[in-house]
Amino acid sequence: MKISSIEDYQRVYKQSVEQPEEFWANIAQNFQWRKKWDKVLEWNFTEPSIKWFQGAKLNITENCLDRHLEAWGDKPAIIWEPNDPQEHHRVLTYQQLYEKVCEFAHVLKNNGAKKGDRICIYMPMVPELEIAVLACARIGAIHSVVFGGFSAQSIADRIQDASCNIIITADGGYRGTKLVPLKNIIDDALVQCPTIKKVIVLTRTRTPVSMIKGRDVWWEDEVKKVETQGATDFPAEEMDAEDVLFILYTSGSTGKPKGVVHTCGGYMVYTGYTFTNAFQYEPGEVYFCTADIGWITGHSYIAYGPLTQGATTVLFEGIPTWPTPARLWDIVEKYHVNILYTAPTAIRSLMSFGDELLEGKDFSSLKKLGSVGEPINEEAWHWFDEKIGHKKCPIVDTWWQTETGGFMISPIAGITKTKPGYASLPLPGIQPVLVDENGNIIEGNSVSGNLCIRFPWPGMLRTTYGDHERCRTTYFSTYHDLYFTGDGCLRDEDGYYKITGRVDDVLNVSGHRIGTAEVENAINMHSDVVESAVVGFHHEIKGQGVYAYVVCPNQHGDPELTRKDIMMTVTRIIGAIARPDKIQFVSGLPKTRSGKIMRRILRKIAEGDAENLGDTSTLLDPSVVDEIKEGAL
Ligand code: WT7
Repeated sequence: MKISSIEDYQRVYKQSVEQPEEFWANIAQNFQWRKKWDKVLEWNFTEPSIKWFQGAKLNITENCLDRHLEAWGDKPAIIWEPNDPQEHHRVLTYQQLYEKVCEFAHVLKNNGAKKGDRICIYMPMVPELEIAVLACARIGAIHSVVFGGFSAQSIADRIQDASCNIIITADGGYRGTKLVPLKNIIDDALVQCPTIKKVIVLTRTRTPVSMIKGRDVWWEDEVKKVETQGATDFPAEEMDAEDVLFILYTSGSTGKPKGVVHTCGGYMVYTGYTFTNAFQYEPGEVYFCTADIGWITGHSYIAYGPLTQGATTVLFEGIPTWPTPARLWDIVEKYHVNILYTAPTAIRSLMSFGDELLEGKDFSSLKKLGSVGEPINEEAWHWFDEKIGHKKCPIVDTWWQTETGGFMISPIAGITKTKPGYASLPLPGIQPVLVDENGNIIEGNSVSGNLCIRFPWPGMLRTTYGDHERCRTTYFSTYHDLYFTGDGCLRDEDGYYKITGRVDDVLNVSGHRIGTAEVENAINMHSDVVESAVVGFHHEIKGQGVYAYVVCPNQHGDPELTRKDIMMTVTRIIGAIARPDKIQFVSGLPKTRSGKIMRRILRKIAEGDAENLGDTSTLLDPSVVDEIKEGAL
């Protein structure tokens, strides 16, 4: 399954395009199936309908846990580094993780969970989060993990959308010096969630919480009950390859976030295959991914991908800047990390604290580096390469999305020649194409266009939960017979791909995807606001910042207070991650005669490029533009 040289890559890539079914069937042989498939692939992008490994039976947790026990039972699966470096770290071997997952699978069953149920998880980055995820998969329940930074309202929306019946949370979570009162946030959310019958609460911070009789139970008490029953194993539920494994919500250019649906068989094959290949993972290597399990990066490359490959992963509860901005480097040193996978925003932020922080740190264990989430600028790339990798570690700049399940365009560590800022070449099995506005495929090199994929891959999304039509219109209807990524891209003279950023109304703030419409809806909920328009602007650390133009004629207090009120509103409705960096009050928005907001103009002004606004003659009232230019922040 592992590519061994660039010639090998070229040969395998060719085979994957010419005989995709044989290619993927071969990869899938490396996994453990209760029953093999009858058919490798059946698909059309019109509905869309995508089915991989039909007829096959499996449970992904048998691939993550059971199959490693004999040879690697004593090998660490998770090395957990707590928020506070003074607190003891924890190591869970594959055997221990297996036992804990089985135990918690019993807890879920005892609390009424069944195959197909939707279970929401809202937890800090502790091993129990991964245990909860795997226990859901073990019993065949569908997990919907919500990142700990989202607000009560966002959780409620997600719980309602999927009609979850159980939620797993903790009393609180630590992030640097902050304590996030997770259970209290959940209690606010649950006011709107009648489908929730059970709340399972892990003790982490000993924050006071209100436990409701009949509904709320403590994780530890439930585990104790299982222990007294003497139940250690939990036979994994047999799943169809196309049964749903999880839902993960992500923002789009319109309305509320959509629940991206991934299924058991294809996702397992794809995350395992891409992890092993892009990082060239060798048994025994220590791998550290700094993402949160609440995002797809954590699902695919902290939990499932590495576990199917028997890898040792570092799970970090805290933040890169506490107690000092050398925290990630301390962790690398402490656990002799061999592979470090992080985000450009983290690299830029840590760069900004100066290189003195790197003095005396031991980076000698590092062999491979990775980047994900947004285009990496050359300065950050070189710093990462020189100061962290000491020019001996290949950097894999992995381009992919929540919807793709795993890496799509990425170097293969040590095999693909890298270029700063380039995600480089498609992995075998992936067929990217660039298209112009009319959907014509642009052939040849030194060209740019919108990035699409023309053939299915096992890790791709199957639908958006409860709304298949939305999946079709968002990804499969813009261009005929193509999956549309929403990204702009160029292909250089060597056929190397460089992602240039989103071409839709989606922002990428610190590697987090934020829909402008979603932020506008939140701002508009503030009682003084008439209307608003949100665009992105270049931000040194975050990549993009959120710039809001707000029409707010009758302000209740002074403008500074109103600004703060609006920020508070966005924090309440979505979460602090979507809070605008800048709010400019305007008397009106630039609109065409048909009432469409001309975002192009607003983007230019936000970027400080107000001199080149282009054609403004179609505006209903061109004078608002002058006022907006005048007041630009
Ligand atoms: C969007 C997907 C994939 C996990 C993290 C984000 C941008 C992602 C790269 C990269 C340039 C990148 C794209 C993509 N993106 N990785 N290596 N180079 N851009 O997942 O929240 O689903 O966001 O992130 O714009 O469409 P996501």
